[in-house]
Amino acid sequence: MNNSDIFVGLDIGTTSIKVIIAEYVKNQLNIIGYGNTGSVGLNRGVIVDIDQVVLSIKDAVKQAEQRANIDISDVTVGIPANMLQIEQCHGMIAVSEEDGSAKEINESDVRKVTQAALVQNLPPERTVIDIVPDEFIVDGFDGIQDPRGMVGVRMEMQGVMYTGPKTILHNTKKCVERAGLNVADIVVAPIALSQVALNDGEQDFGAIVVDLGGGKTTAAVVHDHKLKYTYLDQEGGDFVTRDISVVLNTSIENAEMLKRNYGYAMSALASDEDSFPVQVVGRQEPEKVTEEYLSEIIEARLRQIFDKLAGALDQINAFQLPGGVVLTGGMAALPGIAELAEEIFQVQVKVFIPQEINLRIPSFTQVIGLVEYATKRSEIEMIVKQTLGSVKASRQVAATQSNRGMQAEQKPTKKQKKNNHAGQPKEKQDSNNEGGFGYKFKHMFDNFFD
Ligand SMILES: Nc1ncnc2c1ncn2[C@@H]1O[C@H](COP(=O)(O)OP(=O)(O)OP(=O)(O)O)[C@@H](O)[C@H]1O
Ligand SMILES: [Mg+2]
Repeated sequence: MNNSDIFVGLDIGTTSIKVIIAEYVKNQLNIIGYGNTGSVGLNRGVIVDIDQVVLSIKDAVKQAEQRANIDISDVTVGIPANMLQIEQCHGMIAVSEEDGSAKEINESDVRKVTQAALVQNLPPERTVIDIVPDEFIVDGFDGIQDPRGMVGVRMEMQGVMYTGPKTILHNTKKCVERAGLNVADIVVAPIALSQVALNDGEQDFGAIVVDLGGGKTTAAVVHDHKLKYTYLDQEGGDFVTRDISVVLNTSIENAEMLKRNYGYAMSALASDEDSFPVQVVGRQEPEKVTEEYLSEIIEARLRQIFDKLAGALDQINAFQLPGGVVLTGGMAALPGIAELAEEIFQVQVKVFIPQEINLRIPSFTQVIGLVEYATKRSEIEMIVKQTLGSVKASRQVAATQSNRGMQAEQKPTKKQKKNNHAGQPKEKQDSNNEGGFGYKFKHMFDNFFD
């Protein structure tokens, strides 16, 4: 296909598996197929039964393939933020010729400097999920996004490393491969999510995005376009459903239906007059329950989750970030969720719902984020990432890079604009100091979150 590439996102969620097939044509992403199947074999976002998850992935992929009318092989998959750690990393290597003279930097040097940055003592149960370069420094000249082709004797890489439990990474890869697919890229889920749920200003100045999933709730703090912090609470929408089932003495299926059809996140918003029949276990006749009573059950669990999030986020002063809180994920569809969150977090809260046709439900935000993120990965980022050995050099990625190269020629990316002083000594860059209010405000949190 000329000037187009196919990207596939795979979100292995506790409640459901979502797949999106998107076509990247002339710098625009068009979704051409999607799949969504209930998942079995996950607990609180973590794979606990590989065989079951493989079956669900296959089903979701098949649905998406049929809709798109193509067969897929390479997928970008998300990794949940369970026990995620975010660390700065730095590597330095000599790139000079044997006689000590300066040499042109190539891809192999980039791999070597990445390897140098990866040298660290991790506990045996942890591994590096992703490594993203912030900048390269060649002979003291910093702010370089891609050092290939430059000449120097010493190269450094400054970046961010995301580490997590080996078992999560291994099981995710295993499931994808057993489902007959290639792992094109493995992405820390909240990074991908924030690409779509937060707008450019929110990602820049700072905001909190909360993914209200079925098996877990994840809060992520983004500032200066980087993920700074995550907090994962191992409770989600499925716990709300279970509460409804227990309190009303009705089946899980019934409870789920009631939550979606009559539930409010805040009981004060629900009617104490409107009622609906509930099929109660062991009773012939259905019982009448008011929307208000149902919503009290929902609110109790949500308050508990939000209170825990508030405690963690408050400790790092995240509520001072100007972007406030953005809610997404399946439970964000619940009416009154923003009002409840606003009362607890005491900052501005909004709900993000994707606007893509057929996908206008917040459950899909994560998987849309994965394809969006895949299109934005630069060639240098992929070279650095492939040093980890966890992702394959993908045909699709390679093809896309040539496209993105063309795009970059026509229009510099934000990153390029931001670093258009690359290659100048540090002092010179600093002298280009933007002293305005916007600059100060934007950098207010730099030290705090670094
Ligand atoms: N319209 C709706 N109203 C209320 N709740 C909803 C609605 N749609 C989905 N949910 C709830 O959202 C949850 C599923 O959300 P989502 O698809 O984001 O989770 P997941 O990605 O499968 O799980 P996780 O991210 O926790 O691993 C379920 O608890 C479901 O009941
Ligand atoms: Mg999810």
